[in-house]
Amino acid sequence: MGEAVAETVGERFRELYGAEPEGVWAAPGRVNLIGEHTDYNDGFVMPFALPHTAVAAVSRRDDGILRLHSADIAAGPVELRVADLAPGSDKAWTAYPSGVVWALREAGHELTGADVHLASTVPSGAGLSSSAALEVVVALALNDLYSLGLRGWQLARLCQRAENVYVGAPVGIMDQTASACCEAGHALFLDTRDLSQRQIPFDLAAEGMRLLVVDTRVKHSHSEGEYGKRRAGCEKGAALLGVDALRDVPYADLDAALERLGDEEEIRRLVRHIVTENERVERVVSLLESGDTRAIGPVLVEGHASLRDDFRISCPELDLVVDTALAAGALGARMTGGGFGGSAIVLVEAADVEPVTRAVRDAFAAAGFKTPRTFEAVPSAGARRAG
Ligand code: GLA
Repeated sequence: MGEAVAETVGERFRELYGAEPEGVWAAPGRVNLIGEHTDYNDGFVMPFALPHTAVAAVSRRDDGILRLHSADIAAGPVELRVADLAPGSDKAWTAYPSGVVWALREAGHELTGADVHLASTVPSGAGLSSSAALEVVVALALNDLYSLGLRGWQLARLCQRAENVYVGAPVGIMDQTASACCEAGHALFLDTRDLSQRQIPFDLAAEGMRLLVVDTRVKHSHSEGEYGKRRAGCEKGAALLGVDALRDVPYADLDAALERLGDEEEIRRLVRHIVTENERVERVVSLLESGDTRAIGPVLVEGHASLRDDFRISCPELDLVVDTALAAGALGARMTGGGFGGSAIVLVEAADVEPVTRAVRDAFAAAGFKTPRTFEAVPSAGARRAG
């Protein structure tokens, strides 16, 4: 986020609250390169941060009042009492920032209020973690202003708690950690069991490639039932196999595990996706670390097939992006994020950006789908102070 954006958000803050903000912070959305639905199975993920960010201008208050405003809302700030914040009490956009305040207080941090103005360039409902960006930017601002001394991964945990308990969406830890901890020019190899991290250099432009994000404009929502059903199915699979989480089923033992699940066909499919997906993340890491970047293309395609056929969370629009992009010469493509709509990623040679983009747009028009939005994703910085 450039200084110009920080300046605009600061100006709006002054208009709304009649004083300078104490600071301006930014936190990005993300795309996930590989490792889908593995995060609530204690597994591996590999997201990177987008240049799109949520930006917050924030000042402390000492009277127990939290005022929240978003650039998307014409009305004035929403005013809440921090002592009254309670899970399930808020069904509007304000649940994300107020949930973070609630989670910090629940964790024992003394917060006495804040004035907040938020603006975001992360497309919402596109599977690009616009909610996590909102949570993380507020958490980081309060961490700095109240000198809480929390690390990125700790803020991510608190943001996940806000979303699980306060908002009521049973999401994993990937998006918040990506927003808080990613680094420019890198993908984040994250072990979601202990949150250990490795920054993997990921500079496609230097190797003559690009990664496109195609937003199908099919909206998704995680508080609705399907995400939770997959999560519950995975937990049932772990219980049936006698492990803490599906992460504990080694790839080499997959066939034996599937046999033990007998005629639990639905659970077998979920288990197969998670176990093979963890192996795909490890494969992508070793390909990238050995400089064999083009070879990740087929692994992305395998991942998509597994999400479509075993985990069953794709949709016709996402499948059309993948099939069309591959037919037009892409190196690899897959849906990214929670599924049931949202975005796909497409790995292409730089020279193929234009023909692949055109092919996808034409295929969507021919199918009668909404025109997709396509942009190039450059691995960008994680959450930071911006002014
Ligand atoms: C959503 C959730 C994440 C993760 C992905 C799927 O983005 O917020 O925790 O489960 O779906 O990989």
